[in-house]
Amino acid sequence: MVITLNLDEWYKHKHLSWKGGKLHFVGQDVTSLSKRYGTPLYVTSQDIIEQRYDELHAALRSQYDKIRIHYAVKANSNPAVLKILKDKDARADCVSIGEIQHCLKAGFEPSRILYTGNNQTHEQLKFAFEQGVNVNLDSISQVKTLASMLEEETRAKLPLISFRINPEIGAGHHEHCITAGRNVKFGILDEQVEEAYRKALDVGFSRFGIQTHIGSGILDVDAFKKAGSRYLEIVSSLHAKLGINFEFIDFGGGIGIPYKPSEDPLDLDKYAETMIGLFKEACETGGLGTPNFCVEPGRYIVGESTILVVQINTIKVTPYKQFAGVNAGFNTLVRPAMYGSYHHVITCTRDTGDGNNRKATYDIVGQICESGDILAKERELPILNEGDYLVLLDAGAYGFSMASEYNSNPLPAEVLIRGSDAALTRERQTFQDLLRHVKIPPWLK
Ligand SMILES: Cc1ncc(COP(=O)(O)O)c(C=O)c1O
Repeated sequence: MVITLNLDEWYKHKHLSWKGGKLHFVGQDVTSLSKRYGTPLYVTSQDIIEQRYDELHAALRSQYDKIRIHYAVKANSNPAVLKILKDKDARADCVSIGEIQHCLKAGFEPSRILYTGNNQTHEQLKFAFEQGVNVNLDSISQVKTLASMLEEETRAKLPLISFRINPEIGAGHHEHCITAGRNVKFGILDEQVEEAYRKALDVGFSRFGIQTHIGSGILDVDAFKKAGSRYLEIVSSLHAKLGINFEFIDFGGGIGIPYKPSEDPLDLDKYAETMIGLFKEACETGGLGTPNFCVEPGRYIVGESTILVVQINTIKVTPYKQFAGVNAGFNTLVRPAMYGSYHHVITCTRDTGDGNNRKATYDIVGQICESGDILAKERELPILNEGDYLVLLDAGAYGFSMASEYNSNPLPAEVLIRGSDAALTRERQTFQDLLRHVKIPPWLK
């Protein structure tokens, strides 16, 4: 089934509606929230997170019983988001000790966390093992030292490990987000996979999983299929050569979302049918048994759950351009500057019936002292005024989690909404927060 949405349906898919000419997000008046909490403001909907998780779970579960969804914490590590997903029975995919700490604090069982770091220190690996977190290795060089460290320190049976495989077929919305391929830093390449698992067997590991992640922001099921088929060939060959029975086969994250109105959501049923179809076929023909089928979605679960509300400080009209200068910037949302990403922008009011339907084209720019500080380029919008609120859609994944204090700007606030409730999940930083860890050497005092 191909899903094709017109603009109204697309807005509906994003849970946006207008009541009395005012924009509502999942039923809540965006202007009121902005006045109450100030801007820039990330507003996250619990209902959307739960809905996306449920949809994905149902689609996968309809194809296979033993499925696991590891939420990719990097997309949005707000503790409230983690608690929502933990309560949904999600597992977690972490890439740093900080993310593991967040998950443990949110109540995730260590055994339900998969740690896929890269270039970790021994202390970091040791911490993960000591906590009982599953470790997914990205380098052969770590196997031997790891085994001796674990034997010495824990004197217990070596735990399950897995390796991140690079099937050399990547995909993604931007070059920096394609995480498989010959010249990419991630994973173990086909020609070295056997060596990796053989070394792990040699030093005494006996329980294994296997993982891959080909990239991020993928809306084309065929891209997953192509890489998935290659990956499963590697898995089957490892099983045939080394007799390893994998407890899980993890296909990583990467499911995209429609950032542009011209894009349609990925067909989840097709994704589930295709990927689990391939997986089951490989399990049958390769005699792999019935391992757990794992995915690690981040963007798909939280991307559409959040809007970023900003306020216009200045309208600048030059002979060539009109700029709407807002009280945010790439410090608040870096994706447009970093990846050239598109975030759809809308105003908080629609045609109010006063006959002012005129439009103009604006660049929405921020407060950062760099000309690359453009949040949205050449957008046709209703005539904008200083003081108006603008909303950037789909800011829930890699939005706040990539925000910075650049130009000494405090980090923005985050609010969670559910039904008619709203609550701060992160206070806006203050200038004092910026100075909290700063020290002046005695000779400068
Ligand atoms: C190892 C791993 N798993 C999962 C993800 C999540 O990707 P996405 O948010 O596109 O689903 C990433 C993203 O970079 C990743 O590196």
